[in-house]
Amino acid sequence: MNPSEAKQRLENLSNELQLHNYRYYVLAEPSISDFEFDQLLKELEYLENQFPEFKLADSPTQKVGGQTIDGFITEKHKRAMLSLGNTYNEDELREFDERVRNSTGLNEIEYVCELKIDGLAISVFYENGELVKAVTRGDGIQGDIVTENVKTIRNIPKKLKGNFLPSFEVRGEIFMHRKGFERLNEQRIQAGEPTYANPRNVASGSLKIKDSNEVAKRPLDIFLYQLYEDQNTFSKHSDSIEAAGSWGLPVPGTSKTCIGIDQVIEFLHEWDNKRHDLSFDTDGVVIKVNSKRLQEELGFTAKTPRWAIAYKFQTETASTKLLGITYQVGRTGAITPVAELQPVQLLGTTVKRASLHNANEMARLDIRVGDTVFVEKGGEIIPKIVGVDLALRPKDIPPQAYITHCPECGSELTRQESEAQHYCPNEDHCPPQVVGKLEHFIGRKAMDIQSVGSELCETLYRNNLVRKPSDFYTLTMENLLNLERMGEKSARNIVEGIENSKTQPFERVLFGMGIRYVGETVAKKLAQAFVNIDKLAQASVEELIAVDEIGQRIAETVHSYFRQTDHMAEVQKLKGAGLIFEAVIAEKKGHSLNGKSFVISGVFEKYSRDELKEMVESHGGKMASGVTSKTDYLIAGSGIGPSKLEKAEKLGVPLISEDQLIEIIGSSID
Ligand code: IVH
Repeated sequence: MNPSEAKQRLENLSNELQLHNYRYYVLAEPSISDFEFDQLLKELEYLENQFPEFKLADSPTQKVGGQTIDGFITEKHKRAMLSLGNTYNEDELREFDERVRNSTGLNEIEYVCELKIDGLAISVFYENGELVKAVTRGDGIQGDIVTENVKTIRNIPKKLKGNFLPSFEVRGEIFMHRKGFERLNEQRIQAGEPTYANPRNVASGSLKIKDSNEVAKRPLDIFLYQLYEDQNTFSKHSDSIEAAGSWGLPVPGTSKTCIGIDQVIEFLHEWDNKRHDLSFDTDGVVIKVNSKRLQEELGFTAKTPRWAIAYKFQTETASTKLLGITYQVGRTGAITPVAELQPVQLLGTTVKRASLHNANEMARLDIRVGDTVFVEKGGEIIPKIVGVDLALRPKDIPPQAYITHCPECGSELTRQESEAQHYCPNEDHCPPQVVGKLEHFIGRKAMDIQSVGSELCETLYRNNLVRKPSDFYTLTMENLLNLERMGEKSARNIVEGIENSKTQPFERVLFGMGIRYVGETVAKKLAQAFVNIDKLAQASVEELIAVDEIGQRIAETVHSYFRQTDHMAEVQKLKGAGLIFEAVIAEKKGHSLNGKSFVISGVFEKYSRDELKEMVESHGGKMASGVTSKTDYLIAGSGIGPSKLEKAEKLGVPLISEDQLIEIIGSSID
């Protein structure tokens, strides 16, 4: 490469990496894998070594990445939050060990191996056993104070036990277990919203939410892996972590002390297999010199410690041909492009298709039919196309145009400015949307008509028997018996199942109607707040927003749904069929809280917030969302919102715990 080419490439790489840093740390929406990122960074490092004169002052090789978040208070870290050097292969790891041995003059080093969790770095401070502050990594030099959000994480102790140090800082990683992540995505699917790509993105997005009450609803978890204190109490890293564990801090139970690099490599092999059995994602192993004295002796480079390194598990990559691109239409009309691949083996399974997510992703990859593409799979995660092998691109294949019309019904697609996804707007007549809505309606969490099932929905639709949910209720035995391979017994079963569904409560009927963004929880909230469908249908956007958990977007969607005459006609038909469109209001258990107004904030130990609210309401009390001079009590849990707390203090509103609430309910006899 000649100097001017190198200069150009160096600048391009710097810009590109800066953008990826921004996507990863600030937007929490990375668009390339860690592996790809590291490859680009390595190329840049190499070029900077070859052509130091072109190295930019603010090169991505010189800093950790990231920025601070608007709306939070930023603070300089007491000790910079550095990142780690990393490697994907064992030879480089042996080189690391050699460097450590050479600089210390020792023959064999004691290391600690810890699983590297794919989450979000956090620094937490304890004073006299109390959690006083939590700061995000930010750009490594300064981060955002997110104490209230971190306090909502269930397994982080707000108070320590045992013989703890009076003052220390501990660092760790906030993450989400796969189960919690899947549950969250399931809720999004039910609400007809696009899913999150991975647990890390959600964990990181969650910390940026300004309302701690919202954060408390996310199933976040934390592991702490590094302790800092000024007294040099511990001579070994492993001792400090063990002590932290004894004070009640969540430290990983999977770490191991290894003597010499061979034992380290053994640990890597062991976990490369076992990691798939964990309940959370790990992307590698962090290897640390155990002796604190040696750590100090080895010190730091500008960006990373010389006493630690991260070994990253390689995800398996294969290359194959892109045979075509098909487009799937979901229940809500969202269009997903799918890569149809020449079958290829990856981690023991044959991969034939991979999601291309949306038009932006296709444009980013500049993927074209006929290309050779790289497919990657990491354990359980769905295969992903990570790049195109441009060297193998056949001549003259044209750029891939995104479809403009629905492949199923021919309607012109729409795309809102802020959304990545294209939608087919023909929600009432586009076949997969209609069938999808029918399947949703009979689903377990909606009308729960088990005798029907997905396949029959499709058949009923194709035979022109059911197009809308209300058509289920006019189906006759005769209609069914006319279908191929339908026996008397099955037909009776189906009719009975449909009949029985008429007793499903309002919230389930509402959920079953499949209004966009109205998932299970939202349906419940709406049913409780408006009591019946007529009041709900008449509600203004403002009245809808006033309901707990209903935001602008949901309110507008619900409002416009009920402004369409065919939707109202369908409601009338379902009503006529005898479905329940009125909520049963919880029976009053007592009047001890009559006329009292409550606000709730934070996370509780014995009851969920919904249970506590229900307790208040069933005893005659009222729940309100903000603290005012009319509030009688603020029910306060851990991680209570700071603005609520401040207001309550200013207005003299008493704070009560969940136990005190129960005392108040119990103490007055109705
Ligand atoms: S030690 C100076 N230990 O990986 C020591 N980091 O690429 C720096 N990470 O910023 C960190 N598990 O967010 C350390 N057991 C572990 C870790 C770990 C995950 C993250 C952390 C760090 C990044 C470095």
